[in-house]
Amino acid sequence: MGVSILSVIYIVAAITFIIGLKMMSNPATARNGNTIAGIGMVGAIIGTIFLFKDDAGANLRNHAWIFGGLVIGSVIGVVMAKKVKMTAMPEMVSMFNGLGGASAAVISIAEFNQIVNNDFTIKIGQVYESGYEQLVLPVTAGTMIILFAGLVLGSITFSGSVLAWGKLSGKVKDFAFKGQHLVNLALLIFAVGLSAYVTMNKSEVSTIWFYVVLILSLIYGVFFVQPIGGADMPVVISLLNSLSGISAACSGFLYNNKVILTGGILVGAAGTILTILMCKAMNRSLVNVLIGSFGGSQSAAGEKGSMQHKEISLNDAAVVMSFANKVVIVPGYGLAVAQAQHTCHELQKILELKGVQVKYAIHPVAGRMPGHMNVLLAEADVSYEKLMEMEVANEEFPSTDVVLVLGANDVVNPAAKHDKSSPIYGMPILDVESAKMVIVNKRSMKPGYAGIENELFYQPKTSMLFGDAKKALNDLISEIKSI
Ligand code: TAP
Repeated sequence: MGVSILSVIYIVAAITFIIGLKMMSNPATARNGNTIAGIGMVGAIIGTIFLFKDDAGANLRNHAWIFGGLVIGSVIGVVMAKKVKMTAMPEMVSMFNGLGGASAAVISIAEFNQIVNNDFTIKIGQVYESGYEQLVLPVTAGTMIILFAGLVLGSITFSGSVLAWGKLSGKVKDFAFKGQHLVNLALLIFAVGLSAYVTMNKSEVSTIWFYVVLILSLIYGVFFVQPIGGADMPVVISLLNSLSGISAACSGFLYNNKVILTGGILVGAAGTILTILMCKAMNRSLVNVLIGSFGGSQSAAGEKGSMQHKEISLNDAAVVMSFANKVVIVPGYGLAVAQAQHTCHELQKILELKGVQVKYAIHPVAGRMPGHMNVLLAEADVSYEKLMEMEVANEEFPSTDVVLVLGANDVVNPAAKHDKSSPIYGMPILDVESAKMVIVNKRSMKPGYAGIENELFYQPKTSMLFGDAKKALNDLISEIKSI
């Protein structure tokens, strides 16, 4: 009876994951989607703790350990989630991925020990109408493959994610040596080859090889992430996220647990789709992200050849915006760094009071994570109707009087359209240069993520408004109020 109730709980939990994931694709429903999937997950955990029966037909024991772990983990999770800054979200996601991978690897280690202790047999509980029976079967090659897949993918995800976290938080510097990609390939081939060797020979070979695979995988995770440019980390984190899902799915196979399997597959698929979408939005292949070095090296830029940029005073910026019919704000990474989203909303409201139509143009990879700008503006209660996707915004720019670029750079760089030598060539951009006037707020002429000059800043219709976005917006609001 307990088992069948648990099956129903698992099915309901799996459904909540799917509904939750669907709702997370829209900013308006994302929060509720997260809650629904969370409730499903809690139900699955509680159900497993109290209703699951082990191979001998007994319920789970060690409740003190289980609840102790749950309480400690939940407290750490809540504190981290409350404290994390929006700009540090990729780091936090990276940590979560790492822990997911570690869990899958630990499950593989525990199951391998169990299998070794049982002389490479496996006990499977079966519920018949007549009652519960236990079958003792030799371990199949399929089980060993799944076990090793969980170990290898989980360990790579763990060490790779920890390194990604270190790089993103500035604790670890980018580092690569000559021929590293070949060394990486050799490591991976060696780990997979050894896994195949143990799988084929099972009890005839030393169990030490299992742990050699573990160590090789951990080293591979570090070497795989190490040479990737710090700025490309969001794509790698998304890839590691999908690996953590696949490794969790392996654990689901091992335990024949449908809810872990469904959850793992959903994370794996969502992570893969996200990785592909991010690469597409940057017009780069995944291989280019993984082995090509991209941006980040150019720390400062001067004037572009003989071209000079021009600046605009706060007062002049306030005047042109106040007397404009339509203003479009283009938010970018700098807005997130400055945490100026509330001030930005304030500017929108004050301009609207003056009869100006204000909208936002959102580039799919503005900022440092998918949906970064949507989340940022939602946090400041900016209405979703004010947000235009790139294609819509590009149609609106020709009829726009002033575009205010707030801490964005690469996503408005026209080089993407015509400069074949540019690393961002082919990336769809926000065509702000088709508006009547462009005001760019940033702190200096330094490049953005791609580490390249932006010719937009030197065009006759562009004026630079230097300063931290929050301070510049506050000053702009004061000026507009005084007009
Ligand atoms: P970026 O090109 O990175 O430019 C951000 C600009 O903000 C910088 O040039 C910087 O100039 C300015 N800035 C920094 N702090 C500021 C502050 N406190 N106040 C005002 N300005 C500030 O940003 P973007 O245009 O949003 O483009 C995003 C880039 O990230 C793209 O190249 C994209 O491919 C890449 N990327 C995005 C994602 C996702 S999913 N969003 C994932 C991976 C990569 P100063 O230093 O002069 O102030």
